[in-house]
Amino acid sequence: MHGEFGEQFSGFVFTNHAWMQSYGSRVRPLMIYGDVLRPQPMTVSWWRYAESPTDKARRMPAVEVTILNWSLVREDIPRSQTCQQIGLAGRQNIQSFPITGEPTMQYPTNLTNALEFIWGEGILSPGGPEEVAQMLEGIDVSGCRVLDIGSGLGGIDVLLAAKHGASAVIGIDVEPQLIDSARDLAAKEGLSGRVTFQLVTTGKLPFADASFNLVFSKDAMVHITDKLAVYSEVLRVLKPGGWFIAADWLWSESAAESAVVHAWLSKMQLTFAFTPPAAALRALIEAGFAEPKVSDLRRELQEANRKEVALLEGPIRQKLAAIVGTEMAENRLASAKGRQGALDSGDLIPCHLSGRRPT
Ligand SMILES: C[S@@+](CC[C@H](N)C(=O)[O-])C[C@H]1O[C@@H](n2cnc3c(N)ncnc32)[C@H](O)[C@@H]1O
Repeated sequence: MHGEFGEQFSGFVFTNHAWMQSYGSRVRPLMIYGDVLRPQPMTVSWWRYAESPTDKARRMPAVEVTILNWSLVREDIPRSQTCQQIGLAGRQNIQSFPITGEPTMQYPTNLTNALEFIWGEGILSPGGPEEVAQMLEGIDVSGCRVLDIGSGLGGIDVLLAAKHGASAVIGIDVEPQLIDSARDLAAKEGLSGRVTFQLVTTGKLPFADASFNLVFSKDAMVHITDKLAVYSEVLRVLKPGGWFIAADWLWSESAAESAVVHAWLSKMQLTFAFTPPAAALRALIEAGFAEPKVSDLRRELQEANRKEVALLEGPIRQKLAAIVGTEMAENRLASAKGRQGALDSGDLIPCHLSGRRPT
């Protein structure tokens, strides 16, 4: 069983023809060569299949220690670190199974209501219209066909059409309730014809090659583990000469071991897949982008985050609590403070990423 799990983690390689004996059957040896991550839900579809004919199916813990003990382990990092990586990947998998067996909703309405209250109508991330304008500086969006990856409540998609003049914007997201709200917002703004939304699953983008002049994404790619795969897909759907512009949360090479980061993430209900800036730049280059660029925005975001903490420490928090409840309002303050710690320690590195499809 550990082989089936191991094969779905990244960071493992397997032999094609060499076998070893395990409990009387043949298994392929597991070899760990890189950081162990869970690129996508591993067992949700197995679970649905197993429970379809019976109510007797039982979920099995992800056997992390068995995976470690049956693997040939890296020697360049301590065994305990690899153990922790496998444990975290297993935890993420368990978290994708709530009681109902459906994958977890990461952005439930009380969280999106709180984020919208802080950042403005239809917006789930820091910065608002000014940040979007800064990301697009020097790029003429008018008349462009734009794809927005991780469109959330659709506020940014409305901006791309109404303020920046895009002729068509398609927002994609993995959560159906967000797609519904985004469609409502576009309709309210009279933009339903130009701004549309599509529910997607992680993996290949459901668009033909060379479909868009601009692929945009704001604070969403931090949820996608395989950066090279997603950048390659972005390049494929861009027209030659088209731009990829994204804001993303990256982290330092040592952040995975940082106590400040652990303290912050332990308060979060969201799961993230951070990568260091150098790795993101390498992935942009490897995907084939021309003019690849990753710029560090720590200073700006440190200031913006400080303002957010001050705001939430003030009377605004009572107003927020009246809308989303005290627990969520306190949770937002704790999250902003934790994020401040990670920004100030240099572990969390908000960045703008860009690249162009070669002509
Ligand atoms: C912090 S919110 C940002 C939403 C929006 N871009 C904004 O700034 O208001 C991150 C969004 O990414 C979406 N997301 C997560 N994983 C995704 C994936 N694999 N593909 C597309 N969207 C994804 C989430 O559902 C969520 O709406």
